[in-house]
Parts: sequence; C-alpha cells; structure tokens
Amino acid sequence: MTDGSEERRDDLGADASAEWLSQIAAAPDAQALQELRVRLIGKKGEITQQLKQLGKLDPDERREQGQRINALKGRVEEAIEARKAELERQRLDAQLASERVDVTLPGTRPTQSGLHLLTLVTNRLLDVFRSLGYEVVTGPELETDHYNFTALNFPPDHPARDTQDTFWTTDGRLLRTHTSPMQVRYMEAHKPPFKLVVPGKVFRNEAVDVTHEAQFHQLEALVVGERITMADLRGAINEMAQALIGPGTKTRLQPTYFPFVEPGAEFAIWWTNPRTGREEWLELGGCGMVHPKVFEAVGYEGVTGFAFGFGIERLALVPYAIPDIRYFYQGDMRVLEQFRGVL
Ligand code: DAH
Repeated sequence: MTDGSEERRDDLGADASAEWLSQIAAAPDAQALQELRVRLIGKKGEITQQLKQLGKLDPDERREQGQRINALKGRVEEAIEARKAELERQRLDAQLASERVDVTLPGTRPTQSGLHLLTLVTNRLLDVFRSLGYEVVTGPELETDHYNFTALNFPPDHPARDTQDTFWTTDGRLLRTHTSPMQVRYMEAHKPPFKLVVPGKVFRNEAVDVTHEAQFHQLEALVVGERITMADLRGAINEMAQALIGPGTKTRLQPTYFPFVEPGAEFAIWWTNPRTGREEWLELGGCGMVHPKVFEAVGYEGVTGFAFGFGIERLALVPYAIPDIRYFYQGDMRVLEQFRGVL
C-alpha cells in the first residue's frame, strides 16, 4: 500500500484489508462467504467496530479515517458481491455440466406395442370387404346345435357333423365349429338383399399339429339377393385374393360337399409355398350357393345367394411364410415382433 492513509490505519487496529479481500476471494462457498460478511461488516463486524470508534477521534482525523474505513467497507462489500456472483456462476456451470444431455447419443427406444398379425390380417380383410360394400357383423362363440348344425342343413346323426367335432357344455350347447351359424342368425333378423362378412373365433376338437389348432379364426361371407349367381361368388373370391396377395392372383373352385350350399366347392389360391419354394394351390376354405333348405329354415323366398368361409390363420401363413400355426398363439416376442407394422 502506498497511499498516505496506510500508517493512519494502524490507529484503528491491524490492517487486515488485504488479508480480508483474499479470504473473500477464496471463500469456498456461500456459507463461508456469509460468515466473512458477518465477521467484517455485520453489526459486530470488525469494520463496523472501526466505524463506531470514529466518534472518539477529533473532527479532522474522524473525517479522514471515516473516508478510509468507508472506502474499505465499500471494497469489502464489492468483493463479497463479486465472489458471490462467481460462486453462483460456478454452481450453475457445475449443474449444467452434470445435467448435460448429449443429443447425439443413441436414445433408449421405448417398448412399442403392436397388433397381432392375425388382427392385422383380419382388419385388412374387413377393409377389403367394406370397400366392396359388405357389412361386418359378429356373433356368439357359444352356440346351439340348431344354429351350428340343424338350421345349416346338417341333419341329426348326419356324418357331416363328425367332421366338425367340438366342445360341448353340460347344458347341450357347444363352442361353434364355424362362423356359418351367423348366416342363419343374420337372415332371421334381416330382409334381403344384403352382403355381410363375419369374422370370429371357432373351435374344433383337433389333434394339434403345424396346420391344426383347437381354436382358430374364420371369416364368413354371405351375399343374398335376386339373381345372385356363382359368377358373383367367383368374383368375390378373386377380389379378395387379389387385394390380399396381389394383382393377378389366381383362384380355383373344386366341387365338394357342404350341407348348407348347393353346389358346394372348396376354393384355393395360387401361392408360393415357403417351405418348398414351389408354386402350388393352397386350399383356403369352402363356398357355394346357399342351399334352399337354409333359406327355408329362415323363411326366405325368391332369392339366391352365395356363401364362403375360410380360416384366417391359413391366409396369414401364406404371405408371411409362417411354418407352424402354433406360433400365432405362443406369444413369443421373437415371432410377434417380426410382424409389427407389416400391414
Ligand atoms: N363353415 C365351413 C367350415 O368351417 C366352411 C364353409 C363352407 C363356409 C362353405 C361357407 C360355405 O360359407 O359356403 O368348414
């Protein structure tokens, strides 16, 4: 210190100002800084004490010392404020550093849910049929013998019943073996003309293997009106196959027997078998012209109609080359994840 006040300062005690300022500058945290503030300029602080002693001095000296001490107090206050700001800045810097987000790091992908492949395929089918003007309806899975068999022209004890063995309740009802009973239920409640499709779960008492499950899904179609012909049936099946598999997909009808249609046929679509790589026919389901006995059972006259029904699983197996029908129900994420968003 070279100013003339230096010697005078000794009059009022040790010159600690340089030491104080360096302590302030080195205060490690806000609390240490506050302690220094109290010690120096608090009510009983050292500088405050010095100011209080000014009264004992004569006027000239009082003025001089007063200026000096007030200037010192000012410097101390400034230093405290500066250190306070610095500590605050350091705290903020540390916080920013610790909370820093590296936006270039790969993120944690949230688990995404998705629809099951069978749901996707069913929705796709329903979209196709809705666009062709079909109504979508559903029906009960627990059925009566009447709707599942009798009204569909399966006479009691007819061998055709044996092909559809199922699970019975003790009160004589059964888990429906096909979606065809909804043909009857719908016709009982509506007047023709109409076009409808029925998606749903069906049940069979099956020996389970790669192509058979005791529970699976079907889609049933029924179109009734005046002069509906087999050409309409062919057209509907072609439309469906092409919409699902691709333009130009071939379909085939071969005569066969179902009690509730006459003539009856099974239909197939041309596809590449993923296991052999060979192109071949895949039998998908049954179809035909609604049997007069069925119309009779629901009191319809003067109309004709066609119906078809098939297993949705088989149709999902085709485009996705799934080798075993059981994969659909095992809930294995390695299988399910492959079909997330495919449709
Ligand atoms: N309901 C039959 C079954 O599950 C399939 C079927 C055949 C449905 C012919 C039809 C049809 O609508 O006309 O085996």
